[in-house]
Amino acid sequence: MTDQPVRTERRGDALLVTIDNPPVNVVSQAVRAGLLAAAAEARAGLVSGAIRRVVLTGAGRAFVAGADAREFDLPPMEPHLPDVLLQLMDLPVVAAINGVALGGGLEIALACRARVAHPSAQLGLPEVTLGVVPGAGGTQRLPRLVGLAAAVSLISEGRLVRAAEALSLGIVDGVEDDVVAAALALDPALLARPAVDASPAPAADADAVSRARAQAASRMRGQIAPQRAIDLVEAAAAVPLADGLARERQTFLDLRKGEQAAALRHVFFAERGAGAPKDLAALTPAALKTALVVGGGTMGAAIAYALSGIGLHVTVLENDEAAVGRARTNVAALFADAVKRGKTDADSAQRKQAEGFAFLHGPDTPLPPVDLAIEAVFEDLAVKRAVFARLGAGLPATTLIATNTSYLDVDAIAETLPEPSRFLGLHFFAPAHVMKLLEVIRARRTSSHTLASAFGLARKLGKIAVEAGVCDGFIGNRILTRYRQTTDILLLEGATPAAVDTALEQFGMAMGPYAVQDLSGLDIAYANRKRKNLKDKPGIRYIAIADRMVEDLKRLGRKSGAGWYDYEGTARRPSADVVALVERTSADAGVTRRVFEAEEIARRAMLAMMAEGFDILAEGIARKPSDIDLVMVHGYGFPRWRGGPMHLADRWGLAAVRDDLARLAKEDPLSWRVPALLDELVKSGAKLASLN
Ligand code: COA
Repeated sequence: MTDQPVRTERRGDALLVTIDNPPVNVVSQAVRAGLLAAAAEARAGLVSGAIRRVVLTGAGRAFVAGADAREFDLPPMEPHLPDVLLQLMDLPVVAAINGVALGGGLEIALACRARVAHPSAQLGLPEVTLGVVPGAGGTQRLPRLVGLAAAVSLISEGRLVRAAEALSLGIVDGVEDDVVAAALALDPALLARPAVDASPAPAADADAVSRARAQAASRMRGQIAPQRAIDLVEAAAAVPLADGLARERQTFLDLRKGEQAAALRHVFFAERGAGAPKDLAALTPAALKTALVVGGGTMGAAIAYALSGIGLHVTVLENDEAAVGRARTNVAALFADAVKRGKTDADSAQRKQAEGFAFLHGPDTPLPPVDLAIEAVFEDLAVKRAVFARLGAGLPATTLIATNTSYLDVDAIAETLPEPSRFLGLHFFAPAHVMKLLEVIRARRTSSHTLASAFGLARKLGKIAVEAGVCDGFIGNRILTRYRQTTDILLLEGATPAAVDTALEQFGMAMGPYAVQDLSGLDIAYANRKRKNLKDKPGIRYIAIADRMVEDLKRLGRKSGAGWYDYEGTARRPSADVVALVERTSADAGVTRRVFEAEEIARRAMLAMMAEGFDILAEGIARKPSDIDLVMVHGYGFPRWRGGPMHLADRWGLAAVRDDLARLAKEDPLSWRVPALLDELVKSGAKLASLN
């Protein structure tokens, strides 16, 4: 970074002001101070007649990416951006928007007289995605510039637009390849226009406001910031500008110190901290050009489709001709969907399938010498070991080989391979071409180079990759198992499936655990419990309700028309039969049922996730707490605005979490105990975040 994050230089009769705060020119305190100084310099130059205009641009790839979100944990520091913008407002400034202009970046541009953007620039006010509202005039100035309907939709969704759309909306005055040259040569008449603040208030638009409210309530359920942002845009039509700006600033400051903003910031930075750990980042990942996907079922086909999307030639291996037919159909359906969504056209979809894919079948077919092989066959250790024995014998010793197992022992699978250092787990989440999360499973003998190559692949696939060690369920499914055991205990002690789901959906989970099981099928989890023989395992409190659902009631979930709920189409209704089964199980176990309030249900479920998370960290299965949060947010419907279970543990206070777990352990020592790592952290007074 240069010493001065804002520098000025003369260009003819213009003062060129460049914001240079790498990598993305966030508006830190030093940038605000620099802009204030530049405004003073410009004012002096204008008064003396030395300059006639000011051009404001960003160094590097961004114009300005917004406020420095890391400063949000500190008290606000002067000079504040709204005050800086008031100084810019009455000067003839052109914003030369060379790259992203987001949040405070767009607010700076809105305070300029004119705006020219590079074709690749993206503009928007994404503050709601960080749990706040624009804090320097965005909610008041954007509607004055583009009208209330466009502004309320952009601001409440935090949606970004490209330069062309910004031009058609009227956010920018021109789109040019060389924005600085264009700004220097811009028609002076555009600079003589009044500032946005002098424009009349936008017309009210009740329909647009109620559409935005409904959309925010469904797409950003539970989040405060989008609704507050809508209030503010609505106010732009009703109150004088100064009042609107004051309201906006206060709302921004209030939200900035709130729980939701802290959680959303945590996830934002956790995402950027994910990927290859530092010790691997120095290694060069293998160049992967060809892949073999074993199994063309729903998961295999989606993995194959995703790999083809980043330019790999993919061979899909199946058992027989009929299975190849199904695999082809699965792949074709994914391309058809992409065409339907406008992501590609029918011709290129056809061409990609014809040129980018091959299908093989049969037990003795020679395998192509691919760079990467991913197995996605039936979840059975014997079946998988047979596949890997074949891959080990038939592929070059350098081929990177991965299993997509979600539970099985990756080390046991590795034993079948001649060169296990190039083997690892790549746990994709369904649908594999859509879900962002990828658990990268480090087996005992996986080499650093193999891991680095897997992270390289993940980056190209646009995935959020989290490294996990070998254990049953890795990070996500292991926590899921514990979470489900805990909600089953709640059923046994007095709750109903509907009460548990409602409580957790109110908490913010995308779906309650019983609704999720109905969707995925109760037989899958049933088979898993049998495989692990949990019933006879000492030291756990085994709750037989889910087994009885399958064995006695034959309720397998939506696919059998009935599961934890009765279904009419997709509409769910609580089932009297299921409640009777739950009550019978409690009676058989001699448990006196009691009422659980929603808050207690959610707290217990979270304590279970946290407790498992502490063990996962202590065992080295996850590298850091924020990785666990990313897995739960991106793979399991955990509300982003609560930050993930480990972030939540810090926010609740580790001592309080420890006390709650200790109390539960006293009541039910088979199900609960205080994790050693939690105890240590409480004793040392450290937060979990210190381990990130
Ligand atoms: N505050 C502080 N740091 C920020 C930041 C912000 N608003 N936006 C980005 N950064 C940091 C990232 O943490 C990352 O830091 P690192 O290199 O130490 O990991 C670095 O800038 C680059 O960001 P990254 O997201 O990895 O780069 P990208 O090119 O993929 O994306 C953006 C760039 C600007 C599109 C993206 O970072 C973004 O959307 N930022 C948030 C914008 C925003 O919400 N602004 C409103 C703030 S209220």
